[in-house]
Amino acid sequence: MAKLKTTFFCQNCGSQYSKWQGQCTSCKEWNTISEEVLQKPEKSDWKTPSSTSTKRVSRPLLINEIDVSQEARMQTEDAEFNRVLGGGIVPGSLTLLGGEPGIGKSTLLLQIALKLPYKTLYISGEESQKQIKMRAERINPSSNNCYILTETKTQNIFKQIEELEPDIVVVDSIQTLHSDYIESSSGSISQIKECTTELIKFAKETATPVILIGHITKDGNIAGPKILEHMVDTVLQFEGDRNHVFRILRANKNRFGSTNELGIYEMQGSGLREVSNPSEILITQKDEELSGNAIAATLEGMRPLLIEVQALVSTAVYGTPQRSATGFNAKRLNMLLAVLEKRAGFRLGAKDVFLNITGGITVDDPAMDLAVVAAILSSNEDEALPKDYCFAAEVGLSGEIRPVQRVEQRIVEAEKLGFSTIFVSKYNKISLKNTKIKIQLISKIEDLVDFIV
Ligand code: TYD
Ligand code: MG
Repeated sequence: MAKLKTTFFCQNCGSQYSKWQGQCTSCKEWNTISEEVLQKPEKSDWKTPSSTSTKRVSRPLLINEIDVSQEARMQTEDAEFNRVLGGGIVPGSLTLLGGEPGIGKSTLLLQIALKLPYKTLYISGEESQKQIKMRAERINPSSNNCYILTETKTQNIFKQIEELEPDIVVVDSIQTLHSDYIESSSGSISQIKECTTELIKFAKETATPVILIGHITKDGNIAGPKILEHMVDTVLQFEGDRNHVFRILRANKNRFGSTNELGIYEMQGSGLREVSNPSEILITQKDEELSGNAIAATLEGMRPLLIEVQALVSTAVYGTPQRSATGFNAKRLNMLLAVLEKRAGFRLGAKDVFLNITGGITVDDPAMDLAVVAAILSSNEDEALPKDYCFAAEVGLSGEIRPVQRVEQRIVEAEKLGFSTIFVSKYNKISLKNTKIKIQLISKIEDLVDFIV
């Protein structure tokens, strides 16, 4: 019997080794290297070279001669999804959608597949056809061009594809697929690489777009090799807090558009609903003004978003004061507290400080700083801020109020939502005219204290 060809892969980063070793030299993880059987047959994957006998040899073209007009994108019914992709699905492209288990990846893609005006093949290796049908009934019971296939072997999948000739293929998930040409089990690095290569070949040869679902590891990376992310054209990330209803779809890599776009969804009983005006939902509608609340005009990707920050400052009862931040960087919170203490003379050293960004979302826009400081001051003084104030500026270590990018976009959004005053840095260049909203320019943290305390 011929000797099986094996090789060793790091299950964490995908590095390849010729022999086993305890630690991966490239990602430094221990015990992640395991043996996988490789078997490259002569005959290969999606159609053998003989069946596609049109031998194309590419030749160099002048850049001005290259025709891009046939790159018409396929529009889905979902405006958020189209926007994140940069204007629709590009024919022949491979898109990878990653996200934690239970976040709604299958729901999102099934929902899009059900509403597509094209012949769609939804391949699931995770759920049975009945389970998918039950889910589909919750979302959109009628669709007559969406086919469901439960299969995990790529050779069988391609056989079905050849018969059906779908316009779009969705695979749930890449980790469940396996190819006969590789011996190792599904989900292993070599299987993922092989199946993705076969799918890429199929997508490029037939100009059929393929959307893959990918699992995520506990540290938030797409499971399997980093190589997977290099192989596909677009990597989308679906994130959010499972206990909250909001989900954010963003592009981490996009060969056909910007990675700044963002899609926001709300998980409902009947699938995911597109949220076209997120600010209205993220700000609690309340009649009375409460201390410790401030509104930040932030940007998520390219979209302005007004978010509520809540702070609670109270005297520490048990020895060391507690500092806790949900949805905001805890180190940044400590820094802002130190600035308040040193530059504005607030004695917060003996107080517990809790900070919460409402809606279960995490923001790392530096423009949040000023709202965080305002919320802390408001709670510390037990004095409510006027509820039509909002804030957009970074706070520096010496207590200076620093400018932020795209401030005009933030101002316009705040005005649209009916805020009366926005606090921004004096050093921001603003050329907006005839704004109804009052633009309050400040340069030091003391200026803010004067206004709100
Ligand atoms: P799912 O798409 O299976 O997640 P993933 O594929 O990312 O693992 O969806 C997970 C959750 O979504 C599930 O816990 C139930 C919830 N859900 C709703 O709230 N409403 C719905 O209409 C559907 C279909 C799911
Ligand atoms: Mg799923």
